[in-house]
Amino acid sequence: MKKISDIWLNRFKTASSVAVLTGAGISAESGVPTFRGEDGLWKKFRPEELANFDAFLKNPELVWEWYNYRRKLIEEVKPNPGHFALAELEKRVHSFSLITQNVDDLHRKAGSQNIIELHGNILRNRCLSCGRVSGSADMDFSEGVPKCPQCGGRLRPDVVWFGEMLPEEAIQKAYAAAETCDIFMVLGTSAVVYPASALPEIAFRKGAFIVEINPEATPVTAYAHVSLRGKTGELLPEIVRKLTAGTEND
Ligand code: OAD
Repeated sequence: MKKISDIWLNRFKTASSVAVLTGAGISAESGVPTFRGEDGLWKKFRPEELANFDAFLKNPELVWEWYNYRRKLIEEVKPNPGHFALAELEKRVHSFSLITQNVDDLHRKAGSQNIIELHGNILRNRCLSCGRVSGSADMDFSEGVPKCPQCGGRLRPDVVWFGEMLPEEAIQKAYAAAETCDIFMVLGTSAVVYPASALPEIAFRKGAFIVEINPEATPVTAYAHVSLRGKTGELLPEIVRKLTAGTEND
């Protein structure tokens, strides 16, 4: 199915559990670059030089320069109507899990509550010596590698790099949400990075209704019950509007 239709929208009214997986595409309309599109970050930068632990050990200043650039950009942008629509949807569903691969904190800024961050958060930092996690406010990023406010050890961004394990609690919660939901939405992600990419298929095998929103086809399109070709910032508010109108008419 390719349209927003009352037939499948009605499923949201009876669903006891909805899970969504978001990727960089949902923040594209806020001005955050995606990774794999034509203007994607991985077209201009090499992940192996910037987003793995060996690269950090070899050249921590360069890695910090890259994260400082991205953090500054993210601090300046705002959630878009797609983020706000998900926060609104959460209020209408009994159990709602928002699984995100994004590190930009925009779901939280939009008011979403049950957020599962699979790839960490760029606004947090972690000490390589004592393990303390700290925020970015009042931190001095101007000189090379920032220091832990507690022990003076070297800090790294609290994000997941290539080759690293995902935070255990986050991935467990994400699997549980995928296995038990009635509806699983796949929003603005190319769905190619494991293990996040496995979640829609797990949900599908367990019998969930799969809704995808993306301007382009992805591996999920092959089995999604509904594939909407368009922007999350336009289609998600429309879905919420229709659901609200439906509730008012009931
Ligand atoms: P990608 O850059 O791989 O994919 C972004 C997707 O968003 C593409 O499928 C686009 O078609 C789609 N898109 C673009 N604009 C959109 C819009 N306005 N509305 C809806 N969709 C839109 O980003 P991710 O799938 O998030 O990991 O990438 C997954 C992971 O790969 C990232 O978390 C990151 C990256 O390497 C790490 O850094 C560990």
